[in-house]
Amino acid sequence: MANIVIIGTQWGDEGKGKVVDLLSETADYVVRFQGGNNAGHTMVVKGEQFISHLVPSGILQKKKCFIGNGLVVDPKVLADEIDYLSGKGIDISPEKLRISEKAHIIMPYHKSLDHVRELKKGDKKIGTTGRGIGPCYEDKSSRRGIRFFELLDADSFSERVKSVLEEKNFSLEHYFKAEPLDADEIIESYLELGKKLGPHISNVSLELNEGMRSGKQILFEGAQGTYLDIDHGTYPFVTSSNTVSGNACCGSGVGPNAINGVIGIVKAYTTRVGAGPFPTELHDEIGDAIQKKGVEFGATTGRKRRCGWMDMVMIRNSVRLNGLTGLAITKLDVLGGLDEIKICTGYTYKNQVIDYFPTDLSVLEQCIPVYESIKGWEEDISTIRAFDQLPKNAIAYLKRLEKLSETPIQIVSVGPGRDETILLSDPFR
Ligand code: GDP
Ligand code: IMO
Ligand code: MG
Repeated sequence: MANIVIIGTQWGDEGKGKVVDLLSETADYVVRFQGGNNAGHTMVVKGEQFISHLVPSGILQKKKCFIGNGLVVDPKVLADEIDYLSGKGIDISPEKLRISEKAHIIMPYHKSLDHVRELKKGDKKIGTTGRGIGPCYEDKSSRRGIRFFELLDADSFSERVKSVLEEKNFSLEHYFKAEPLDADEIIESYLELGKKLGPHISNVSLELNEGMRSGKQILFEGAQGTYLDIDHGTYPFVTSSNTVSGNACCGSGVGPNAINGVIGIVKAYTTRVGAGPFPTELHDEIGDAIQKKGVEFGATTGRKRRCGWMDMVMIRNSVRLNGLTGLAITKLDVLGGLDEIKICTGYTYKNQVIDYFPTDLSVLEQCIPVYESIKGWEEDISTIRAFDQLPKNAIAYLKRLEKLSETPIQIVSVGPGRDETILLSDPFR
């Protein structure tokens, strides 16, 4: 029996959805532990594309899925996602999808505040997804959040909404000069959603621990990426949750001794959506070509993703922060056709080479990447299923990443489809 955590090692969109879908075949339970519908995880099975924002990506493999206490959940988005997936013939009954009673609820005022705060920041904005994630986590930390179990008691829910809304409306109207919200409208629509989602609400921690005792294997599905982590990322250009592997435990209610392995998803190059520093960003035709070939548009907001070379300073730091036991390299096919491929191995800061990721963004912004080059390959690799059949330059690239990260590559993804994968060693074994 093994329980595995999957996390993003960069700025999100590394291909977590694809790898979770693939590895779910061996898992019994699949669990999201942080974030919310800022995430957009894409799975492609037999040519059909599915995007999930809240429901764990194990749902296509018919596995029991859990939304842990560490998430902030917009109940309308979740209800719509359940309809979308069941419309595609996927079983998403209350038995299949469990929602932690402790997960915090994204309310309409969280979305309004997310929106007006970004507007007020002007060109200093973070470029959030606008889904109310930050304001909801703020309420969680300041102990006035509303949790899922509260949706089940109409009277106390109404009272809670009215008391919280008083302060939110004051801030919306008088500080942000925005429209206040109507308590009765919110209460009515949310209680209606509560009726629909009620049968899914459960004590997730209890169910996971009981499952482990009876030999179930768990896959923990991270969202976002290490550099969007509220503590370890490029603060303040981050999301509002801990995205690193350690949060798999806090965000689902299992102990650290439950975790047997941590797989870091590494895109074969780097991308970022939203604002913030990005040392290896390409502002030239190579960056444009990668963006086009990789179809680098956000799965949640549709925004163009910024593209750049692989940054091994970042990956080495990710290995340490997450305790990675293996890597999955995704989108290797996208690099095909380039004459040369660059790998950032360090930064030059004030004429000195450094090999660590600076905390101070004003330092990071002055860092100039130190690159080494690997020759590219021409072949289309998307039909290759064995490592040794890859072009020799692609193998050289992967070996170099393995050496620099000091972490074994367990999976290489050569296309978006579930089967477009080279499995070197099974993380569950
Ligand atoms: P996530 O947020 O980490 O789950 O990643 P996204 O789903 O937001 O973005 C990854 C995108 O790359 C999706 O469109 C996937 O279908 C696609 N993708 C995943 N792996 C590969 C791959 O190996 N090759 C190619 N070409 N596309 C991939
Ligand atoms: P997945 O799980 C990429 C980014 C936003 C913004 C910052 C803060 O698909 O990899 P937020 O709405 O969370 O307050 O926005 O974080 N961001 C993501 N970028 N992939 C994601 O998720 C992201 N979730 C949030 O673009 O820069
Ligand atoms: Mg995504």
